[in-house]
Amino acid sequence: MITSTTCLYCVLGNPVVHSKSPLIHNAAFKDLGINAVYLAFSPENTKAAVRTTMDAIRTLNIGGASVTIPFKEVIMPYLDRIDTMAQTIGAVNTIVNREGRLTGYNTDCEAAIAPLRPFGIKGKTVCIVGAGGAARAVAHGIAAEGGKVVVVNRTQEKGRALAGRVGGTFVPVDRAAEVEAQVVINTTSLGMAPDTQTLSFPESALHPGTVVMDVVYTPMDTCLLKTARAKGCTTIDGLSMFVAQAAAQFTLWTGQHPDIELMKRTVLENALGDL
Ligand code: ATR
Repeated sequence: MITSTTCLYCVLGNPVVHSKSPLIHNAAFKDLGINAVYLAFSPENTKAAVRTTMDAIRTLNIGGASVTIPFKEVIMPYLDRIDTMAQTIGAVNTIVNREGRLTGYNTDCEAAIAPLRPFGIKGKTVCIVGAGGAARAVAHGIAAEGGKVVVVNRTQEKGRALAGRVGGTFVPVDRAAEVEAQVVINTTSLGMAPDTQTLSFPESALHPGTVVMDVVYTPMDTCLLKTARAKGCTTIDGLSMFVAQAAAQFTLWTGQHPDIELMKRTVLENALGDL
């Protein structure tokens, strides 16, 4: 029941209408009997709106926030403290409000690496498609585990910069077919609804045994994952990573560990055809 002591949490994104975060965090609050509610907010993507939103979190004592596209980098100057890993990655996906002081964290990195560990990362060539906030989180995680990073990105400058930061190499998009990688991770929005037929990595560079992961989860079975399976690759869907980063946020806010299977089930049962 919502009462006068209910704590508010939220997701900040623009657009935010397709976000599954409210579904899973509210399900976990209910499951653990925590008096909290989680809503979706879509501020304008301007510096003034971002600053006002951070002030609103402090003023209204909002307990914390998930941060998604396009705010993961732009909110950083308006926080009071940034955790070391988020600082290294250069992106924040989680805000925790402790008595008016806002700390930024990044739970994307561990969430991306965890499903790949069983396949081994050390010494493997890992191709990361994209060079935005999600790519940085994944690239730092891969490098920390001893993987060799290859970045493929549309904008060469950004791709080169990311590869340089993690001791990896850069390959332009038009030469992606030449990449020989044991693991391929799409971190771009290519393949996301409504443009579900766009392939983020060339089919010819996928081989039996390649591990292919997609951060896109709308749809859950992306064009990349379907193509990869048809070529004999092992695939990891974006929902696993999405739920893992959300569960880590939940723990930062509440100190409790949510039921990950419940979170996953909740998304699947309430996806309303999105997945
Ligand atoms: P996120 O924080 O989710 O990573 P982002 O920082 O906006 O989001 O990064 C999005 C990434 O997807 C970028 O690497 C972007 O490529 P550019 O660096 O060239 O902008 C990539 N991306 C998005 N849409 C794309 C498209 N239509 N074709 C190719 N790459 C695309």
